[in-house]
Amino acid sequence: MRFEAWIDEEIAQLREKGLERRLSVFSEAGGKIEIEGRTFLNFSSNDYLGLARNPEAISASRKYLVSYGCGATASRLITGTLDPHDELERVIAALKGYPEALVFGSGFLANAGIITSLAGRSDHVFADKLAHASIIDGIVLSRANLKRFHHNDPDHLTALLKQCPAGGRKLVVTESVFSMDGDIAPLAEITSRAVEYGAMVMVDEAHATGVFGPGGSGLIREYGLEDRVNVSMGTLSKALGGYGGFIACSSALRDLLVNRARAFIYTTGLPPAVVGSALGALAVIRKAGNPGAELLRRAATFRKRLQEAGLNTLNSESQIVPVLIGENAGTLAVAQRLKSKGILAVAIRPPTVPEGTARLRLSVTLDHSDRDLEWAAGEIIAEASGELGAREAYG
Ligand SMILES: Cc1ncc(COP(=O)(O)O)c(C=O)c1O
Repeated sequence: MRFEAWIDEEIAQLREKGLERRLSVFSEAGGKIEIEGRTFLNFSSNDYLGLARNPEAISASRKYLVSYGCGATASRLITGTLDPHDELERVIAALKGYPEALVFGSGFLANAGIITSLAGRSDHVFADKLAHASIIDGIVLSRANLKRFHHNDPDHLTALLKQCPAGGRKLVVTESVFSMDGDIAPLAEITSRAVEYGAMVMVDEAHATGVFGPGGSGLIREYGLEDRVNVSMGTLSKALGGYGGFIACSSALRDLLVNRARAFIYTTGLPPAVVGSALGALAVIRKAGNPGAELLRRAATFRKRLQEAGLNTLNSESQIVPVLIGENAGTLAVAQRLKSKGILAVAIRPPTVPEGTARLRLSVTLDHSDRDLEWAAGEIIAEASGELGAREAYG
């Protein structure tokens, strides 16, 4: 028998459930792209501020490429920490309002490296039910006891903290802006409950960095929680348009990570050009002041239009606007029809989101003008309402 027989079977099962995923190849990235000569509004890009193709970010990246070469050539602890890494960490620490920062190979690696350094077999990690896969994988890798609290529910978190047996460290983890729902965590409340029960607090600001807070610093800073949130995690791959992850934290925690975080130690440092693009993007944000405010204004108008037409955008309050369809096949069909009209809105299905909550996840970016958004909203309303109406009519 071919050794792939079991693989064929697994894929066939995914296909049957409408859960098979395939890679698509694009010639461009960003919120507005050309495909075979036709312009598409891309609502599936996380390049919220349109910085992935910003000339200043590209030129900063090029400068570091030419000065330092293609790669860091070693892991950060050996000889892979170059001036650009040091510079980027200083800039991130200042932006986030923490004493220090440490850059990881990606946001995924940052979450894995941080959580495994803070918690071990006899410890307890409390994570929001909708926490990103990289947070969950970090907890699994840490071997700590995982307890999941109901989404954005400080009371359930408190109940779990109360039940937790004595002994061992406790860590509470949440996102500030949730990646698939676009809603915002009650950070002050969650933090105060965690502190009350002696737990450390970690907040993933992947989707808030660059968008929320003064100068794009994120929600921890907007709410003034820097002294109470021990781990401010973020990524360079969303609003900053590049690649890489980071933590902003105390100097003691940074020292611990440099010594313990295997996802930091046993991998090559980020290439200088990638670090340069993040520095360039951060400089553009500094100059612009608060580009996130304009993005959030456009997103709010777009969301209101969808809501007024009766679509369910969950509790979105950010540039991420979900449109709940529910069923996998129907969500895929809506995405397909929108594509034929020039709108890319990828269908998000389980296991990325809970069973029965398949949705379009629409990311508004500064590449989308008010006019683009007005037109797209009309098309999305027509297709999504049509699908939901047909389901109601035929069961
Ligand atoms: C909430 C959250 N955390 C972490 C990550 C991982 O970041 P990266 O893409 O930089 O690995 C993502 C992105 O998928 C995310 O949405």
